[in-house]
Amino acid sequence: MKTAAELFDLKGRVAVITGGAGLLGTRHAEAIASAGGIPVLVDLREEEAARRAADLSARYGVAASGLSADITRPERVEALLAEILKRYNRVDILINNAANNPKQEAPGEVEFSRLESFPLEQWEADLAVGLTGAFLCSRVLGSEMARRGRGVILNIASDLGVIAPDQRIYRRDGVAEELQPVKPVTYSVVKTGLIGLTRYLATYWADKGVRVNALSPGGVYNGQPEDFVQRLSALIPMGRMAGIDELHGAILFLCSDASSYMTGTNVVLDGGRTCW
Ligand SMILES: NC(=O)c1ccc[n+]([C@@H]2O[C@H](COP(=O)([O-])OP(=O)(O)OC[C@H]3O[C@@H](n4cnc5c(N)ncnc54)[C@H](O)[C@@H]3O)[C@@H](O)[C@H]2O)c1
Repeated sequence: MKTAAELFDLKGRVAVITGGAGLLGTRHAEAIASAGGIPVLVDLREEEAARRAADLSARYGVAASGLSADITRPERVEALLAEILKRYNRVDILINNAANNPKQEAPGEVEFSRLESFPLEQWEADLAVGLTGAFLCSRVLGSEMARRGRGVILNIASDLGVIAPDQRIYRRDGVAEELQPVKPVTYSVVKTGLIGLTRYLATYWADKGVRVNALSPGGVYNGQPEDFVQRLSALIPMGRMAGIDELHGAILFLCSDASSYMTGTNVVLDGGRTCW
């Protein structure tokens, strides 16, 4: 039997994290590095990705990289794979984490979120990053994993891929009813779609040694306004949002051999919200 350390060991495994310069992408990268894996932070924001990768390399003694790629463009994703193979000659893990992540709770943000006037361009832009980007990265990097007979894909969905948003928590005082902010329709569609993509890829590559799962976190606390935090917390049996490091354990479990018999699953990490 493997020890706990052996089960979760990612030594030498190359893990690509899309949206790696974002709030949670950097944390996923750190979780990987903490188990000896080599995170490759992929983002539109090249300097930020490179800076964060350098910081992880220094702190964990791994050869992390920060690379720029627009994951909505097939040729950029192909070039990304070529660059990763040139640098490391392998790719073991793909975390499809990038998404447009609108913050309705932040005052002044997203005034166009209501369904009746939701712009087609925004719909297309949100699906391009969250769904098409995940499809393209899976197609390109996942095919390379399947060719080598080993790999893991983890799609970052959301509790809102499982339940509908409770739009009451985004309400703002003094705003007319027809202008009240809502979580946009694209968020639900992208996250639900990712769970579908997970099942499709998991069964498609089950005999090729590529495991594919989804992780659906609830809201992560990051200094949101107090009234919003209270309204959201009231919907959660544990009575609070997730701490920023509370995805760490699930990331390691799903990316390592600790979950070697798990594929096609959506792991919901939401303080119990979807039970209610
Ligand atoms: N923050 C939360 O509370 C929460 C909760 C549940 C799920 N999630 C999901 O976790 C993931 C990360 O969330 P976050 O809060 O870190 O978001 P974030 O906005 O901080 O990070 C997203 C990153 O993706 C990058 N990106 C956007 N378009 C891209 C493109 N075309 N190509 C490459 N990179 C691109 C952005 O530059 C950004 O760095 C998202 O999928 C989000 O939906 C977040």
